[in-house]
Amino acid sequence: MMSKKLFIQTLGCAMNVRDSEHMIAELEQKEGYTLTEDMGEADLILINTCSVREKPVNKLFSEVGAFKKGAKEGAKIGVCGCTASHLGGEIFKRAPYVDFVLGARNISKITQAVNTPKFVATDINYDESEFAFGEFRSSPFKSYINISIGCDKKCTYCIVPHTRGEEISVPAELILREASRAAANGVKELFLLGQNVNGYGKRFSSTHEKMDFTDLLKRLSDIDGIERIRFTSPHPLHMDDKFIAEFASNPKICKSIHMPLQSGNTKVLRDMKRGYTKEWFLDRAERIRSLVPDVSISTDIIVAFPGESESEFNDTMDVLERVRFEQMFSFKYSPRPLTKAAEFAGQIPDEIASERLTRLQSRHNEILDEIVARQKGRVFDVYFEELRANGGVAGRSFNNFLVQVNGSEELLGKTLKVRVDEPKRMVLYGEVV
Ligand code: 5AD
Ligand code: SF4
Repeated sequence: MMSKKLFIQTLGCAMNVRDSEHMIAELEQKEGYTLTEDMGEADLILINTCSVREKPVNKLFSEVGAFKKGAKEGAKIGVCGCTASHLGGEIFKRAPYVDFVLGARNISKITQAVNTPKFVATDINYDESEFAFGEFRSSPFKSYINISIGCDKKCTYCIVPHTRGEEISVPAELILREASRAAANGVKELFLLGQNVNGYGKRFSSTHEKMDFTDLLKRLSDIDGIERIRFTSPHPLHMDDKFIAEFASNPKICKSIHMPLQSGNTKVLRDMKRGYTKEWFLDRAERIRSLVPDVSISTDIIVAFPGESESEFNDTMDVLERVRFEQMFSFKYSPRPLTKAAEFAGQIPDEIASERLTRLQSRHNEILDEIVARQKGRVFDVYFEELRANGGVAGRSFNNFLVQVNGSEELLGKTLKVRVDEPKRMVLYGEVV
Protein backbone atom coordinates (compact mmCIF):
# COMPACT_ATOMS: atom_id res chain seq x y z
CA MET A 1 0.00 0.00 0.00
CA MET A 2 1.17 3.52 -0.79
CA SER A 3 1.74 5.48 2.39
CA LYS A 4 -0.35 8.54 3.04
CA LYS A 5 1.42 11.84 2.50
CA LEU A 6 1.73 14.71 4.95
CA PHE A 7 2.54 18.30 4.01
CA ILE A 8 3.25 20.64 6.90
CA GLN A 9 3.92 24.36 6.95
CA THR A 10 5.42 25.83 10.10
CA LEU A 11 5.27 29.53 10.93
CA GLY A 12 6.63 31.33 13.97
CA CYS A 13 9.16 30.42 16.63
CA ALA A 14 11.44 27.47 17.39
CA MET A 15 8.76 26.16 19.74
CA ASN A 16 6.48 25.74 16.74
CA VAL A 17 9.26 23.98 14.83
CA ARG A 18 9.53 21.48 17.67
CA ASP A 19 5.73 21.09 17.91
CA SER A 20 5.68 20.28 14.19
CA GLU A 21 8.38 17.65 14.74
CA HIS A 22 6.24 16.13 17.46
CA MET A 23 3.19 15.98 15.21
CA ILE A 24 5.21 14.47 12.36
CA ALA A 25 6.53 11.76 14.70
CA GLU A 26 3.01 10.89 15.88
CA LEU A 27 1.59 10.79 12.35
CA GLU A 28 4.46 8.72 10.95
CA GLN A 29 4.46 6.19 13.73
CA LYS A 30 0.77 5.84 14.49
CA GLU A 31 -0.95 6.75 11.23
CA GLY A 32 1.58 5.69 8.58
CA TYR A 33 2.14 9.11 7.02
CA THR A 34 5.34 10.14 5.25
CA LEU A 35 6.41 13.72 4.65
CA THR A 36 6.14 15.40 1.28
CA GLU A 37 7.24 18.83 0.10
CA ASP A 38 4.60 18.80 -2.62
CA MET A 39 1.35 20.11 -1.22
CA GLY A 40 -0.57 18.90 -4.30
CA GLU A 41 0.06 15.23 -3.53
CA ALA A 42 -0.64 15.45 0.22
CA ASP A 43 -3.49 13.55 1.90
CA LEU A 44 -3.12 15.73 4.97
CA ILE A 45 -2.12 19.40 5.00
CA LEU A 46 -1.18 20.98 8.32
CA ILE A 47 -0.47 24.61 9.00
CA ASN A 48 1.18 25.31 12.33
CA THR A 49 0.45 28.95 13.06
CA CYS A 50 1.79 31.83 15.12
CA SER A 51 -0.22 34.74 16.50
CA VAL A 52 2.36 36.75 18.36
CA ARG A 53 2.04 39.68 15.94
CA GLU A 54 -0.91 40.62 13.80
CA LYS A 55 0.28 39.78 10.33
CA PRO A 56 0.44 36.01 10.79
CA VAL A 57 -3.29 35.89 11.57
CA ASN A 58 -4.25 37.49 8.26
CA LYS A 59 -1.71 35.29 6.58
CA LEU A 60 -3.39 32.20 8.00
CA PHE A 61 -6.62 32.67 6.09
CA SER A 62 -4.92 33.50 2.82
CA GLU A 63 -2.67 30.44 3.24
CA VAL A 64 -5.44 27.96 4.03
CA GLY A 65 -7.37 29.40 1.07
CA ALA A 66 -4.39 28.68 -1.17
CA PHE A 67 -4.06 25.20 0.33
CA LYS A 68 -7.70 24.46 -0.45
CA LYS A 69 -7.13 25.50 -4.09
CA GLY A 70 -3.93 23.49 -4.53
CA ALA A 71 -4.95 20.42 -2.53
CA LYS A 72 -5.95 17.18 -4.20
CA GLU A 73 -9.52 15.87 -3.96
CA GLY A 74 -10.29 14.53 -0.48
CA ALA A 75 -7.19 15.93 1.23
CA LYS A 76 -7.71 16.98 4.85
CA ILE A 77 -6.63 20.40 6.12
CA GLY A 78 -5.78 21.01 9.78
CA VAL A 79 -4.94 24.29 11.51
CA CYS A 80 -2.67 24.01 14.56
CA GLY A 81 -0.65 26.27 16.84
CA CYS A 82 -1.21 29.60 18.54
CA THR A 83 -3.73 31.10 16.12
CA ALA A 84 -5.72 27.89 16.38
CA SER A 85 -5.68 28.28 20.19
CA HIS A 86 -7.19 31.71 20.19
CA LEU A 87 -9.55 31.47 17.21
CA GLY A 88 -10.70 27.89 17.90
CA GLY A 89 -13.92 26.86 16.16
CA GLU A 90 -14.21 30.37 14.63
CA ILE A 91 -11.80 29.10 12.01
CA PHE A 92 -14.52 26.84 10.56
CA LYS A 93 -16.72 29.89 10.03
CA ARG A 94 -14.14 31.77 7.99
CA ALA A 95 -12.77 28.65 6.28
CA PRO A 96 -15.44 25.91 6.26
CA TYR A 97 -13.20 23.45 4.39
CA VAL A 98 -10.83 23.20 7.38
CA ASP A 99 -11.20 19.72 8.93
CA PHE A 100 -9.79 20.24 12.41
CA VAL A 101 -8.33 22.85 14.76
CA LEU A 102 -5.66 21.97 17.31
CA GLY A 103 -4.32 24.52 19.77
CA ALA A 104 -0.65 24.93 20.59
CA ARG A 105 -1.09 23.08 23.85
CA ASN A 106 -3.05 20.18 22.36
CA ILE A 107 -0.77 18.87 19.66
CA SER A 108 -0.45 15.48 21.40
CA LYS A 109 -4.05 14.91 20.19
CA ILE A 110 -3.03 15.05 16.55
CA THR A 111 -3.95 11.43 15.73
CA GLN A 112 -7.37 11.88 17.32
CA ALA A 113 -7.82 15.11 15.35
CA VAL A 114 -7.17 13.52 11.95
CA ASN A 115 -9.68 10.76 12.71
CA THR A 116 -12.53 12.88 14.08
CA PRO A 117 -14.63 15.13 11.82
CA LYS A 118 -14.46 18.83 12.78
CA PHE A 119 -12.29 18.08 15.82
CA VAL A 120 -11.44 21.12 17.95
CA ALA A 121 -9.12 21.13 20.98
CA THR A 122 -7.86 24.43 22.34
CA ASP A 123 -7.74 23.86 26.09
CA ILE A 124 -4.84 25.90 27.48
CA ASN A 125 -4.86 24.03 30.79
CA TYR A 126 -4.23 20.72 29.09
CA ASP A 127 -1.01 19.22 30.44
CA GLU A 128 1.38 17.85 27.83
CA SER A 129 4.49 18.09 29.96
CA GLU A 130 4.73 14.33 30.53
CA PHE A 131 3.64 13.30 27.08
CA ALA A 132 6.23 11.06 25.43
CA PHE A 133 6.33 11.89 21.73
CA GLY A 134 7.95 9.69 19.12
CA GLU A 135 11.24 10.57 17.46
CA PHE A 136 11.37 12.92 14.52
CA ARG A 137 14.16 15.41 13.93
CA SER A 138 14.25 17.87 11.06
CA SER A 139 18.03 18.08 11.52
CA PRO A 140 20.35 15.14 12.26
CA PHE A 141 22.84 17.57 13.82
CA LYS A 142 20.76 19.47 16.30
CA SER A 143 18.12 18.33 18.73
CA TYR A 144 15.37 20.70 19.86
CA ILE A 145 13.99 19.82 23.27
CA ASN A 146 11.05 21.46 25.02
CA ILE A 147 11.90 22.01 28.66
CA SER A 148 8.70 23.80 29.58
CA ILE A 149 5.35 24.59 28.07
CA GLY A 150 3.34 27.78 28.49
CA CYS A 151 4.33 31.01 30.20
CA ASP A 152 3.43 32.42 33.61
CA LYS A 153 4.58 35.94 32.83
CA LYS A 154 1.83 38.32 31.98
CA CYS A 155 3.60 40.79 29.69
CA THR A 156 0.78 43.12 28.76
CA TYR A 157 1.38 43.03 24.99
CA CYS A 158 1.75 39.27 24.70
CA ILE A 159 -0.82 36.76 23.54
CA VAL A 160 1.32 33.72 24.39
CA PRO A 161 -0.04 33.08 27.91
CA HIS A 162 -3.49 32.99 26.28
CA THR A 163 -2.49 30.51 23.58
CA ARG A 164 -0.02 28.30 25.41
CA GLY A 165 -1.39 28.59 28.93
CA GLU A 166 0.26 28.27 32.33
CA GLU A 167 3.90 27.37 32.59
CA ILE A 168 4.70 23.75 33.43
CA SER A 169 8.22 22.32 33.43
CA VAL A 170 8.88 19.05 31.68
CA PRO A 171 10.26 16.50 34.19
CA ALA A 172 14.06 16.48 34.08
CA GLU A 173 14.17 12.67 33.59
CA LEU A 174 12.29 13.05 30.29
CA ILE A 175 14.59 15.84 29.12
CA LEU A 176 17.72 13.93 30.09
CA ARG A 177 16.45 10.77 28.42
CA GLU A 178 15.62 12.64 25.21
CA ALA A 179 19.02 14.32 25.22
CA SER A 180 20.88 11.05 25.83
CA ARG A 181 18.99 9.35 23.03
CA ALA A 182 19.86 12.22 20.68
CA ALA A 183 23.52 11.98 21.67
CA ALA A 184 23.46 8.22 21.08
CA ASN A 185 22.20 8.98 17.56
CA GLY A 186 25.17 11.25 16.90
CA VAL A 187 23.60 14.62 17.67
CA LYS A 188 26.19 17.02 19.11
CA GLU A 189 24.02 20.04 19.80
CA LEU A 190 21.02 20.47 22.09
CA PHE A 191 18.70 23.40 21.67
CA LEU A 192 16.52 23.83 24.75
CA LEU A 193 13.19 25.53 24.24
CA GLY A 194 10.70 27.28 26.43
CA GLN A 195 8.87 30.61 26.48
CA ASN A 196 10.79 31.43 29.62
CA VAL A 197 13.57 28.85 30.01
CA ASN A 198 15.03 30.25 33.18
CA GLY A 199 11.67 29.84 34.89
CA TYR A 200 12.49 26.13 34.69
CA GLY A 201 11.62 24.10 37.77
CA LYS A 202 9.10 26.48 39.27
CA ARG A 203 6.17 24.16 38.70
CA PHE A 204 6.08 20.51 37.71
CA SER A 205 2.77 18.76 37.19
CA SER A 206 3.75 16.00 39.64
CA THR A 207 6.12 15.77 42.60
CA HIS A 208 9.63 16.24 41.41
CA GLU A 209 13.06 16.83 42.86
CA LYS A 210 13.98 20.50 43.12
CA MET A 211 15.84 21.65 40.06
CA ASP A 212 16.34 25.07 38.46
CA PHE A 213 17.52 25.99 34.98
CA THR A 214 21.17 26.25 35.99
CA ASP A 215 21.06 22.75 37.55
CA LEU A 216 19.42 21.40 34.41
CA LEU A 217 22.19 22.90 32.25
CA LYS A 218 24.80 21.23 34.44
CA ARG A 219 23.10 17.85 34.20
CA LEU A 220 22.73 18.07 30.42
CA SER A 221 26.34 19.04 29.94
CA ASP A 222 27.39 15.78 31.65
CA ILE A 223 26.03 13.77 28.70
CA ASP A 224 28.84 12.25 26.62
CA GLY A 225 28.80 13.26 22.98
CA ILE A 226 26.97 16.53 23.56
CA GLU A 227 29.34 19.34 22.60
CA ARG A 228 27.08 22.34 22.40
CA ILE A 229 24.07 23.50 24.36
CA ARG A 230 21.92 26.43 23.28
CA PHE A 231 18.63 27.65 24.67
CA THR A 232 15.92 30.21 24.08
CA SER A 233 14.37 32.34 25.49
CA PRO A 234 15.64 33.35 28.88
CA HIS A 235 14.02 36.29 30.68
CA PRO A 236 16.41 39.11 31.65
CA LEU A 237 14.75 39.38 35.07
CA HIS A 238 15.86 35.87 36.03
CA MET A 239 19.47 36.09 34.89
CA ASP A 240 20.87 35.77 38.38
CA ASP A 241 24.58 35.57 39.24
CA LYS A 242 24.43 31.79 39.64
CA PHE A 243 23.10 31.43 36.10
CA ILE A 244 25.57 33.90 34.60
CA ALA A 245 28.49 32.15 36.33
CA GLU A 246 27.43 28.79 34.88
CA PHE A 247 26.86 30.34 31.46
CA ALA A 248 30.35 31.84 31.54
CA SER A 249 32.24 28.83 32.84
CA ASN A 250 30.54 25.76 31.35
CA PRO A 251 32.51 24.95 28.17
CA LYS A 252 29.56 23.19 26.53
CA ILE A 253 27.20 26.16 26.78
CA CYS A 254 27.38 28.19 23.58
CA LYS A 255 28.40 31.75 24.17
CA SER A 256 25.38 33.41 22.68
CA ILE A 257 22.41 34.57 24.65
CA HIS A 258 19.05 36.07 23.85
CA MET A 259 18.18 38.99 26.11
CA PRO A 260 14.77 40.27 25.05
CA LEU A 261 14.91 43.94 26.04
CA GLN A 262 11.48 44.96 24.60
CA SER A 263 12.04 48.57 25.76
CA GLY A 264 14.94 50.49 27.24
CA ASN A 265 12.73 52.74 29.32
CA THR A 266 11.84 51.84 32.89
CA LYS A 267 8.34 53.29 32.78
CA VAL A 268 7.49 51.51 29.52
CA LEU A 269 8.95 48.31 30.98
CA ARG A 270 6.64 48.73 33.94
CA ASP A 271 3.63 49.22 31.63
CA MET A 272 4.72 46.09 29.79
CA LYS A 273 5.01 44.29 33.15
CA ARG A 274 8.50 43.06 32.37
CA GLY A 275 9.64 43.23 35.99
CA TYR A 276 13.07 44.85 35.41
CA THR A 277 14.43 48.35 34.93
CA LYS A 278 16.75 49.83 32.33
CA GLU A 279 19.56 49.72 34.91
CA TRP A 280 18.97 46.04 35.72
CA PHE A 281 19.11 45.11 32.06
CA LEU A 282 22.33 47.08 31.51
CA ASP A 283 23.86 45.57 34.62
CA ARG A 284 23.12 42.00 33.45
CA ALA A 285 24.40 42.67 29.94
CA GLU A 286 27.59 44.26 31.26
CA ARG A 287 28.17 41.38 33.64
CA ILE A 288 27.78 38.85 30.84
CA ARG A 289 30.06 40.84 28.52
CA SER A 290 32.73 41.16 31.19
CA LEU A 291 32.73 37.45 32.08
CA VAL A 292 32.37 36.21 28.50
CA PRO A 293 34.39 38.50 26.23
CA ASP A 294 33.32 36.79 22.98
CA VAL A 295 29.64 36.53 23.76
CA SER A 296 26.96 37.38 21.20
CA ILE A 297 23.90 39.03 22.66
CA SER A 298 20.68 39.06 20.67
CA THR A 299 17.48 40.87 21.56
CA ASP A 300 13.83 41.55 20.75
CA ILE A 301 12.57 45.12 20.78
CA ILE A 302 9.07 46.55 20.48
CA VAL A 303 8.76 50.18 19.40
CA ALA A 304 5.73 52.43 19.92
CA PHE A 305 4.22 50.56 22.81
CA PRO A 306 1.07 52.49 23.92
CA GLY A 307 2.09 55.74 25.58
CA GLU A 308 5.76 55.56 24.55
CA SER A 309 7.05 59.14 24.27
CA GLU A 310 9.93 60.29 22.09
CA SER A 311 12.25 60.53 25.10
CA GLU A 312 11.18 57.09 26.34
CA PHE A 313 11.98 55.66 22.93
CA ASN A 314 15.40 57.32 23.16
CA ASP A 315 16.14 55.13 26.18
CA THR A 316 15.77 52.14 23.87
CA MET A 317 18.24 53.78 21.47
CA ASP A 318 20.54 54.37 24.42
CA VAL A 319 20.50 50.71 25.49
CA LEU A 320 21.25 49.72 21.88
CA GLU A 321 24.24 52.08 21.97
CA ARG A 322 25.58 50.60 25.20
CA VAL A 323 24.92 46.90 24.68
CA ARG A 324 25.61 46.83 20.91
CA PHE A 325 23.55 43.70 20.25
CA GLU A 326 25.05 41.26 17.76
CA GLN A 327 21.54 40.50 16.57
CA MET A 328 18.30 42.42 16.94
CA PHE A 329 14.71 41.46 16.12
CA SER A 330 12.55 44.56 16.19
CA PHE A 331 8.85 45.09 15.76
CA LYS A 332 6.21 47.77 15.79
CA TYR A 333 3.83 47.21 18.65
CA SER A 334 0.75 45.35 17.45
CA PRO A 335 -2.38 45.21 19.64
CA ARG A 336 -3.30 41.57 20.19
CA PRO A 337 -6.68 40.17 21.23
CA LEU A 338 -7.04 39.18 24.92
CA THR A 339 -4.05 41.34 25.99
CA LYS A 340 -4.15 44.24 28.48
CA ALA A 341 -2.09 46.62 26.36
CA ALA A 342 -4.63 46.48 23.54
CA GLU A 343 -6.94 48.44 25.87
CA PHE A 344 -4.32 51.00 26.98
CA ALA A 345 -4.71 54.68 26.19
CA GLY A 346 -2.09 56.33 23.98
CA GLN A 347 -1.98 53.89 21.04
CA ILE A 348 0.62 55.32 18.68
CA PRO A 349 -0.02 56.24 15.04
CA ASP A 350 1.64 54.01 12.49
CA GLU A 351 3.77 56.79 10.93
CA ILE A 352 5.46 57.42 14.26
CA ALA A 353 5.93 53.71 14.90
CA SER A 354 7.45 53.21 11.44
CA GLU A 355 9.78 56.15 11.88
CA ARG A 356 11.04 54.82 15.24
CA LEU A 357 11.50 51.35 13.84
CA THR A 358 13.53 52.71 10.92
CA ARG A 359 15.69 54.80 13.23
CA LEU A 360 16.36 51.83 15.49
CA GLN A 361 17.14 49.47 12.62
CA SER A 362 19.38 51.94 10.77
CA ARG A 363 21.47 52.52 13.87
CA HIS A 364 21.62 48.80 14.52
CA ASN A 365 22.82 48.16 10.96
CA GLU A 366 25.69 50.62 11.49
CA ILE A 367 26.66 48.87 14.72
CA LEU A 368 26.40 45.51 13.04
CA ASP A 369 28.67 46.62 10.20
CA GLU A 370 31.33 47.53 12.75
CA ILE A 371 30.90 44.22 14.61
CA VAL A 372 31.05 42.26 11.38
CA ALA A 373 34.12 44.08 10.02
CA ARG A 374 36.02 43.16 13.19
CA GLN A 375 35.55 39.44 12.46
CA LYS A 376 37.85 39.53 9.40
CA GLY A 377 40.82 37.24 9.91
CA ARG A 378 39.42 35.61 13.04
CA VAL A 379 39.30 31.83 13.36
CA PHE A 380 36.13 30.14 14.64
CA ASP A 381 35.17 26.55 15.44
CA VAL A 382 32.22 25.96 13.14
CA TYR A 383 29.76 23.09 13.49
CA PHE A 384 28.62 22.49 9.91
CA GLU A 385 24.97 21.64 9.53
CA GLU A 386 23.50 23.18 6.39
CA LEU A 387 23.98 23.04 2.62
CA ARG A 388 23.34 26.51 1.21
CA ALA A 389 21.27 27.31 -1.86
CA ASN A 390 24.20 29.19 -3.45
CA GLY A 391 26.52 26.18 -3.00
CA GLY A 392 28.75 26.02 0.03
CA VAL A 393 28.23 24.69 3.51
CA ALA A 394 27.36 26.68 6.59
CA GLY A 395 27.29 26.29 10.32
CA ARG A 396 27.42 28.28 13.50
CA SER A 397 30.37 29.48 15.51
CA PHE A 398 30.27 28.89 19.25
CA ASN A 399 29.03 32.46 19.62
CA ASN A 400 26.35 32.00 16.99
CA PHE A 401 27.75 33.69 13.87
CA LEU A 402 26.61 32.00 10.67
CA VAL A 403 29.80 31.00 8.84
CA GLN A 404 29.99 29.64 5.29
CA VAL A 405 32.78 27.95 3.32
CA ASN A 406 33.10 26.27 -0.07
CA GLY A 407 32.51 22.57 0.25
CA SER A 408 29.89 19.87 0.18
CA GLU A 409 28.13 17.16 2.24
CA GLU A 410 31.30 15.70 3.67
CA LEU A 411 31.64 18.71 5.98
CA LEU A 412 28.20 18.23 7.51
CA GLY A 413 28.22 17.15 11.15
CA LYS A 414 31.88 18.13 11.59
CA THR A 415 33.30 20.90 13.74
CA LEU A 416 36.22 22.57 11.95
CA LYS A 417 38.33 25.70 12.29
CA VAL A 418 37.43 28.39 9.80
CA ARG A 419 39.23 31.67 9.09
CA VAL A 420 36.90 34.50 8.10
CA ASP A 421 37.98 36.24 4.86
CA GLU A 422 34.88 38.08 3.82
CA PRO A 423 32.52 39.08 6.61
CA LYS A 424 28.99 40.11 5.58
CA ARG A 425 26.06 41.21 7.77
CA MET A 426 24.22 37.91 7.61
CA VAL A 427 27.03 35.47 6.84
CA LEU A 428 30.77 35.39 7.49
CA TYR A 429 32.46 33.79 4.48
CA GLY A 430 35.69 31.97 5.13
CA GLU A 431 37.96 29.05 4.55
CA VAL A 432 38.65 25.87 6.52
CA VAL A 433 42.16 26.08 7.98
N1 5AD B 1 3.48 43.49 19.26
C1 5AD B 1 4.74 43.53 18.75
N2 5AD B 1 5.68 42.64 19.04
C2 5AD B 1 5.36 41.64 19.88
N3 5AD B 1 6.08 40.62 20.36
C3 5AD B 1 5.29 39.89 21.18
N4 5AD B 1 4.06 40.41 21.24
C4 5AD B 1 4.08 41.52 20.45
C5 5AD B 1 3.13 42.50 20.11
N5 5AD B 1 1.89 42.48 20.61
C6 5AD B 1 7.48 40.42 20.07
C7 5AD B 1 8.33 40.51 21.35
C8 5AD B 1 8.69 39.08 21.61
C9 5AD B 1 8.79 38.54 20.20
C10 5AD B 1 8.72 37.06 20.09
O1 5AD B 1 7.69 39.12 19.53
O2 5AD B 1 9.46 41.30 21.07
O3 5AD B 1 9.90 38.95 22.32
FE1 SF4 C 1 5.06 36.62 26.23
FE2 SF4 C 1 6.36 37.79 28.27
FE3 SF4 C 1 5.84 35.13 28.34
FE4 SF4 C 1 7.66 36.07 26.60
S1 SF4 C 1 7.79 36.19 28.86
S2 SF4 C 1 5.99 34.60 26.14
S3 SF4 C 1 6.80 38.07 26.06
S4 SF4 C 1 4.30 36.79 28.36
